[in-house]
Amino acid sequence: MKTGRYVGVLTAGGDSPGLNAALRGIGKAGLGQYDMNFVGFLDGFRGLMQNRTIRLDEKRLSGILTQGGTILGTSRDKPHKMPVGGEYLDMTDAMLDTYERHHLDALVCLGGGGTQKSALRLKNKGMNVVTLPKTIDNDVAMTDVTFGFDTALGIATEAIDRLHSTAHSHHRIILVEIMGHNTGWLALGAGVAGGADVILIPEIPYDEGKIAEAILQRSRGGKRFSIVAVSEGAMSVEMADRWQKTQDKLSKAENKKIRDAVKENISILEGERSESTIKLTQRLEKLTGLESRVTILGYLQRGGAPSAADRLLATRLGTACAHLLNEEHYGVMVGARGDGVEPVPLEEVAGKRKVIPADHPWVDSARAVGTCLGD
Ligand code: F6P
Repeated sequence: MKTGRYVGVLTAGGDSPGLNAALRGIGKAGLGQYDMNFVGFLDGFRGLMQNRTIRLDEKRLSGILTQGGTILGTSRDKPHKMPVGGEYLDMTDAMLDTYERHHLDALVCLGGGGTQKSALRLKNKGMNVVTLPKTIDNDVAMTDVTFGFDTALGIATEAIDRLHSTAHSHHRIILVEIMGHNTGWLALGAGVAGGADVILIPEIPYDEGKIAEAILQRSRGGKRFSIVAVSEGAMSVEMADRWQKTQDKLSKAENKKIRDAVKENISILEGERSESTIKLTQRLEKLTGLESRVTILGYLQRGGAPSAADRLLATRLGTACAHLLNEEHYGVMVGARGDGVEPVPLEEVAGKRKVIPADHPWVDSARAVGTCLGD
């Protein structure tokens, strides 16, 4: 049945290859099969607050399947903590106002873990919300995979492939920092696929001595170079301990003053973490006596055209989203399950993170081929 619903769409959080493919999937299925009307809000939740829109019609949705980024623009703004006039304010009422002004039947939010939480807030305000899971980090709960991950995995793997020949020629250790602030899916996946000799991920705190020993052992065996794939969130055992203690303090903080003090400590630790790959490079050079270099892949991993697998996934989730909207199946994330999709209540997704379990098959495989995981 064609219901002709009015639907708002926004993309939030860090951009990810496949966002445009997903927008196209939602839009083309919604327009073609159900006669829906789509309005796109610009720059994430900020555009919803400010009522900045573009019409997502057939013409606007054409030719974007292969484009990187998002035609809607994005931001990391959160509905309940919007930077407005030098302050952080809860702007969910303003967003509800925009939603009602457009007589929307539903709002679709494409984003990662933070977006799932924000979407639940909007749902609790009375909006009909459906979300899609996107992030190159692949850490959204209750979905097999997120779109953007496969593309970034390909880029990081190619980087490791390329670093091999230069590391080999110069007999160097090369550390390659791969995105993944909280989880190590990208570093582990690319590390295994690219044959990194050491893989460091946030889920497994590392011991510098063990890494140095693994590299020296390779050296003694005649392999005079090593590739170390480091997730940007990887931490030494010592730092992981400090990190955990600070997080525990935050969860127990009884008043705003204590919370602010703990948050200050967290930002100092964040600063240390952001430099830890460079520091580790210097430490490994000292510990092994081998020349060491670092390559930080950074935003290269988020840019450019989506892979075939991401186009397929984004289109699958996007078109399924249109079906759910038509059926008024709201308050869910369209998760990927096997070859199909599974609508998951937002309450089961928000605030959770998919981390790599210690016995994950990729971890087992890495260990089985002799890769050092720093522990
Ligand atoms: O999209 C997630 C992510 O890629 C993280 O791995 C990384 O920490 C973060 O984005 C950095 O992005 P930005 O600088 O845009 O916040």
